Amino acid sequence: MNDFLAIADHSPDEIRGLLERAATLKKEFQGGGNQPILKGKSLAMVFQKPSLRTRVSFEMGMQHLGGHAIYIGPSEIGLGQRESIADVAGVLEGYVDGIMARVFDHQHVLDLAQWSDVPVINGLSDYNHPCQALSDALTIQEHMKQDQKIKVTYVGDGNNVAVSLMHISAKLGWDFTIANPQGFDMSKQAIEVGESIAKESGSHITRLTDPVEAIQDADVIYTDTWTSMGQEEETKKREAVFPPYQVNAALLAKAKPTTIVMHCLPAHRGHEITDEVADGPQSALFPQAHNRLHAQKAILAELLSDA
Ligand code: CP
Ligand code: NVA
Repeated sequence: MNDFLAIADHSPDEIRGLLERAATLKKEFQGGGNQPILKGKSLAMVFQKPSLRTRVSFEMGMQHLGGHAIYIGPSEIGLGQRESIADVAGVLEGYVDGIMARVFDHQHVLDLAQWSDVPVINGLSDYNHPCQALSDALTIQEHMKQDQKIKVTYVGDGNNVAVSLMHISAKLGWDFTIANPQGFDMSKQAIEVGESIAKESGSHITRLTDPVEAIQDADVIYTDTWTSMGQEEETKKREAVFPPYQVNAALLAKAKPTTIVMHCLPAHRGHEITDEVADGPQSALFPQAHNRLHAQKAILAELLSDA
């Protein structure tokens, strides 16, 4: 594995391997601490957008493994503006052992990976959010019985988080259903990629507009913001369309009592999810956020460790 840019780039075995490593690192950490397998290693964290979870979990992840992370905020590099992406990559590779980048245009992480000799990790682009998906798969596994047939349903905007969730579900042989309003579908390319992965693994991808139909038999109901970072000028238009897709107690009552609710966070409470559900007994929101740490440590260990 050279980079971690998209779930679709990795085989089911690679993904299962990362999940196993994440579970081991989590256990080890909870049992007293990790081995310093990244001693002396450093990670540059390039952010074009704000972040709480991604920034803190990567920084703490490096620290737990004996390494060091450097935060580079949106105003500092001006990726592709102050300096070309090739030059940024060429400079950083001489200072650090890895680059994690959160960008708008997905092409920018692809370019960073192309121009740098050190591994690049996608910390969210407009196309996808693979670190989130890996952490979410860990959370889903922890909540489900082994060998259980799993159905993941995403309700809301067909955005970056939905795309990675669809791709990892398909890789792991889980069924994936999305309910989104007309005109807010995942990209055609993302759907084609998902369908081709599903064909190989035998999972089923279903695309609907009715959230009630979509959550029937779901083991997981997942939602995310109606307006992603970079789409702020569409907020009003989106707020007019999305209310029927709110994950609330009335919707949850129509699902199985064992269904868990997930959200990558930040949540816009009262919009895509209500307090009652986010803080209710079926919510996995905080365990899911905490698993970012463990899943990303597995990615860092895989990409940066000499062992
Ligand atoms: N879920 C997630 O990536 O959160 P942040 O935007 O806070 O990093
Ligand atoms: N879809 C959201 C995810 C934030 C972690 C966004 O891109 O803003």
